[in-house]
Amino acid sequence: MATLTQFRPGEIWPDDHGVHINAHGGGILVHQGIFYWFGEHKVEGKLGNSAQVGVHVYSSRDLYNWRDEGIALRVEDSPDSDITRGCVLERPKVIYNARTSKFVMWFHLELKGRGYSASRSGVAISDHVTGPYQFIRSLRPNAGILPMNEASRSVDPLNEAESARMASKRWSEGRSDFPVDLIFRRDFPGGQMARDMTLFVDDDSTAYHVFASEENATLNIAELSEDYTTHTGRYFRVFPREFNEAPALFKHSGRYYMFSSDCTGWAPNPGRVAVADSIWGPWTHLGNPCRGEPEQTATTFESQSTHVLPIPGPVPGQLGKFIYMGDRWRPDNAIDGRYIWLPIEWENDAPVIRWHDHWDMRVLA
Ligand code: DGJ
Repeated sequence: MATLTQFRPGEIWPDDHGVHINAHGGGILVHQGIFYWFGEHKVEGKLGNSAQVGVHVYSSRDLYNWRDEGIALRVEDSPDSDITRGCVLERPKVIYNARTSKFVMWFHLELKGRGYSASRSGVAISDHVTGPYQFIRSLRPNAGILPMNEASRSVDPLNEAESARMASKRWSEGRSDFPVDLIFRRDFPGGQMARDMTLFVDDDSTAYHVFASEENATLNIAELSEDYTTHTGRYFRVFPREFNEAPALFKHSGRYYMFSSDCTGWAPNPGRVAVADSIWGPWTHLGNPCRGEPEQTATTFESQSTHVLPIPGPVPGQLGKFIYMGDRWRPDNAIDGRYIWLPIEWENDAPVIRWHDHWDMRVLA
C-alpha cells in the first residue's frame, strides 16, 4: 500500500489492506504514543444500520495510515445477550483507566427488534487496547437519582392524564411543548434514556459520559466511577428541549467545548458548538462552528460530529490543536459511510471548521 500523506475528507480511506476503513461513529484513544480508532463496523446495505459484527479498531502513528487491528468487541450469537447480532450498537468510545489498567468501552445500545426505544448504554472492558473486549452489562444511567442542577425537581409518578398523554402517538405540537418533565419522571425509576454519546476524561482523570436523553431532547453529562465502569450519580441536565445529538467534548485553555448536532436521523444538519468554564456548566451556545457556503454550513459539510481529537503535545492538551471528526452517513449502504476530518481553527476563542479537499498536519502547525 502506498503511504498516505494527507487527509481527504469524504473520499474512500484505505487501511493497510487497501480496504475502506470501517469505524463509523468512532472515537480515538491515544495510548503510549499510538492512535487507536474505534468505531462501528458496518456491513453492506441497510442491514449495516444494525450491528452484524461489532466494534472495529485500527491503529496509527501518523493519523493518515491506519492498520486494521480487527474486531475489538464482537456481537454475540446468543439471542439472550443484550449485544446479540442485529442489535444497534453505536458511537463506541474507549478510555484507559490507569488505576485498574483496563481499557473501558462505552457505547449506545438498542436491544434487537425494539427500534430506538431501549436507549441504553453498554460497557465492555479489556486488558489490551485492541481487545478482545468483554461485554459487562447494559443499563439506563442514574436510576432513581436527581440531577445536581435540579435537586428539587418533581419525581412524582405520572398521573392518569399524564400517562394517557405519553401513551398517545402525539405527545407535543413541537419542541416548545415537548414533555421533557413527563419523560424525566416516567424514566426516573428505571434510569434515564441514553442514545448518542461520547466520553471525556478530564485532567484530573475524572471521566464523564455525555449522552442524548429524554427522547433526545436533553443532554446529560454524568460522572463515571473511579474504575470508569459505572456512574457515580452526579449528573447535569444540559440544554433541555434543544435536541442535541452527536456530542463531542474537548478542553482547551481550561474551558470545555462541545460540538453537537440537531436531531434529523441520518440526514446532516447545521452543527452546533457550546462552551463552559466548568463541565457542570453553565453551557453557552457559540452557534454554528462551520464557515463556508450556505449549503456547507447547513449540513456541517455533509457530516455529523462524532469526536474531537486533541493532538498530543509534550503535556497532554497543551498544544491546543484539534481535529474535528464527523460521519457522512450512507444509510442505504452503511459500509460506504465516509469520514469528514477537518482542522479546528480558532476565531475569537470559538472553534470553527472550514472545508479542505485535502490537508495535512502542517495546517495545524
Ligand atoms: C443520528 C445519530 O447521531 C446516529 O448515531 C444514529 O443513531 C442515527 N441518528 C439513527 O437514525
